[in-house]
Amino acid sequence: MKVTLSVLKADIGSVGGHTLPSRKVLAKVEEVVREEVGRLLLDAYVFHIGDDIVLLLSHTRGVRNQEVHALAWKAFREGTEVAKAEGLYGAGQDLLKDAFTGNLHGLGPQVAEMEFTERPAEPFMVLAADKTEPGAFNLPLYLAFADPMYSSGLLLSPELRPGFRFRIMDLAQTERDSYIELDAPERLYDIATLLRDSHRFAIESIWSRKHGEQAAVVSTTRLRNIAGRYVGKDDPVAIVRTQKIFPATEEFGPVFALAPYVAGDTRGSHHMPLMPVRANTPASTFFCVPMVCGLAFSLREGRLSEPVDLFADPVWEAVRAKVVEKAQEMRRQGFYGPAMLPMEELEYTGIAERLKALEREFS
Ligand code: 13P
Ligand code: 13P
Ligand code: MG
Ligand code: MG
Ligand code: MG
Ligand code: MG
Repeated sequence: MKVTLSVLKADIGSVGGHTLPSRKVLAKVEEVVREEVGRLLLDAYVFHIGDDIVLLLSHTRGVRNQEVHALAWKAFREGTEVAKAEGLYGAGQDLLKDAFTGNLHGLGPQVAEMEFTERPAEPFMVLAADKTEPGAFNLPLYLAFADPMYSSGLLLSPELRPGFRFRIMDLAQTERDSYIELDAPERLYDIATLLRDSHRFAIESIWSRKHGEQAAVVSTTRLRNIAGRYVGKDDPVAIVRTQKIFPATEEFGPVFALAPYVAGDTRGSHHMPLMPVRANTPASTFFCVPMVCGLAFSLREGRLSEPVDLFADPVWEAVRAKVVEKAQEMRRQGFYGPAMLPMEELEYTGIAERLKALEREFS
């Protein structure tokens, strides 16, 4: 059976700062989506990461489907009304356009979608991040799909051995989408050359070379490119299919335990480690450290199993303790050097304006 998974995410307002959506807002969004289960949708699951609400929708309508996207838009709009009524901070923050124009691309919400023929057992996971950029997934996905030091399946399984194709997007292109496709392992150094710059290049999708099947898709919306100003961090989502012809679920754990430094954090203006957390975790008052959660599901005829939270078992408490140390070390140096983003990535214009004013004082 051909199934489409659509993951659509938006920040439509949060309690007491950029923390988490209120229960009333979440309930409204869930209510709107639930009404279509058994009609437009085969199934749905709603959760949040920090202040972002994530919709996981399964259906048979294909990617970029107008009705599915319209439903998500309606859910986010109605949720925004509740957020406004409650006086939540940044109500409707990620809904950058007034009118729905056929699909959610270019309107503000993050979109990651994949259509595939369901395998007899179809395990997959949804990764959702808050307070960070689309390139935040570059290193974990590169290591899981291309590096046998982390992903021993690349050596152990003949299905994985031919490697994976990486489709990488140039986020600096604002006029039109611009991609390159590179095969691992042959083009490993070229892939690394691009992915090292997580502010500019982001993995858009990953494909099995042996089977031609899509393994992963990442949302690559840059809010700044739509709004032309700082409207919060992009906060990407991803869908990753696992097991058999793809890396095993447990091969994604160690790569996220690395917690690489990514752009994001306070005012979207710093480099901080990407902390793996449970789903439905509020953003941290510890600087708004970038965070990622992962829920794995099984799929049967488009129906979702209950989820398993990938970063909830006891190991992750120890990982988080280390990540906090790593984060503290960086922020101890405050605004200095790599702690704060480089000028071209700094989304608040305050520093650039001050610099111009100071230049006039130089003699
Ligand atoms: P079990 O299914 O026997 O627990 O082990 C599967 C496995 O090899 C996980 O990596
Ligand atoms: P988001 O609202 O995009 O999560 O980011 C807000 C921010 O910059 C918090 O410091
Ligand atoms: Mg916010
Ligand atoms: Mg957010
Ligand atoms: Mg955001
Ligand atoms: Mg087993």
